[in-house]
Amino acid sequence: MILLRNLFILFTIFVIITISLSSCNSIKFLDNDDDDHHILRETHRDHHNMNIEREFGYDFQAYPSNYFNTILEDNNNLQSSRFHRFKNLEENDEEEAKVTTINVDSFGAKGDGSTDDTNAFQKAWKEACSSSTTVNFVVSQNKKYLLKPIKFSGPCKSSITMQIYGTLLASDDTSDYSKDTRHWLLIDSVQNFVVGGAGVINGNGKIWWQNSCKINKNLPCKHAPTALTFYNCNNLKVKDLKIEDAQQMHLAFERCSSVVVSSLVVSAPATSPNTDGIHITNTQNIQISDTTIGTGDDCISIVSGSQKVVATGITCGPGHGISIGSLGAGNAEAHVSDITVDGAKLSGTTNGLRIKTYQGGCGSASNIKFQNVVMNDVKNPIIIDQNYCDQESPCKEQDSAVQVKNVIYENIKGTSAPKEAINFNCSKNFPCQGILLENVKLLGENSETPNANWNNIDKLTCHNVSPECPK
Ligand SMILES: *[C@@H]1O[C@H](CO)[C@@H](O)[C@H](O)[C@H]1NC(C)=O
Repeated sequence: MILLRNLFILFTIFVIITISLSSCNSIKFLDNDDDDHHILRETHRDHHNMNIEREFGYDFQAYPSNYFNTILEDNNNLQSSRFHRFKNLEENDEEEAKVTTINVDSFGAKGDGSTDDTNAFQKAWKEACSSSTTVNFVVSQNKKYLLKPIKFSGPCKSSITMQIYGTLLASDDTSDYSKDTRHWLLIDSVQNFVVGGAGVINGNGKIWWQNSCKINKNLPCKHAPTALTFYNCNNLKVKDLKIEDAQQMHLAFERCSSVVVSSLVVSAPATSPNTDGIHITNTQNIQISDTTIGTGDDCISIVSGSQKVVATGITCGPGHGISIGSLGAGNAEAHVSDITVDGAKLSGTTNGLRIKTYQGGCGSASNIKFQNVVMNDVKNPIIIDQNYCDQESPCKEQDSAVQVKNVIYENIKGTSAPKEAINFNCSKNFPCQGILLENVKLLGENSETPNANWNNIDKLTCHNVSPECPK
């Protein structure tokens, strides 16, 4: 008996040592969404618990990434099939007489900018979601509806089109968010959903920015709500809206698929902390087009579990640019693939096209294409940083990293700060694999040639590139 017990204890110790030595977790964690190291540290445990719960059983192999040369073909298919489907959806709305119009005003919403209309919206949603005919959910024009956090839960019986003609204004009483500090408007598990109407979604974020530890260093770091979140949704169309002054992120897609985003204007002051424009996590088949974003953080951020993301016609700035990552925080496994940014204009941003991975993570970021991009006074136009790490621990090479593979930069032009216009800071142990640059021309503001850094690249191909590639 005693021998057995001792053996068991030895075995347990062995397991603990093995686990603590492995630098990248084998359980597939959702990547940390946040740019903010402080928040990261504080909620690390929190995140991981939640992530295990959410991600356990999620099989990345279920979404095999395509071969690189089929990306474009794929995107075309994606476009036509999605548009086709949504066109049908909308045509049906018009053609069939069986459309139930649900106006929030009929449920007691005042829209005077000061009355709390949360209850009226909740009642209206309940009715909409249980309707057996297609619903037109209407938020009236020239009115301002004050709202506390709301969860619009599905699945719903029929497809719903939400027409926001007026303004949704967030409550700025932070105690209203005590139950769930992460979300203001949350659309959960809804399918065949369209939202548009040329109205405004205003996160009223000033109070949150002031209370951010990035602005006031004496305050503890806490998360602020995302203005509009789609969680676990399928077949979405988000179009023709203004989303402004979010508490933290503006628009987030998490665990969604088949999403079309178009004609949005997303704005917040350049000084507002962590106010990403569009954040994509664990989402597949998403297309973003003709959208203007200027905020205090990334215009678009794409993190782990996201595949087949196409962004076209993006105007970005101010902000931190278009970003893939951070990936691999806290030794997490991260997978991002088949990302295309085609047609973007970036002005006055701190980064242009960025891929950022933490030391010690694992997984991969692959098949990424940036093309037809114009930069105007961008600090780091092209950057891959594989050496990203927590500010407190020393930034040292670890024995694992998120593999960056197959990245194309094609037809990228414009002006940069004089430092590194092109900065590939890849990991020594996991060099970037397969980087292609074609027709890339970046100049300093006075037309001088800026610097470039080419650390640890395996298979670099260049055609017509300035600043010049290494010989
Ligand atoms: C590359 O990364 C290392 C580690 O973070 C950093 O010290 C160095 O300054 C970076 N190089 C460039 C050119 O950004």
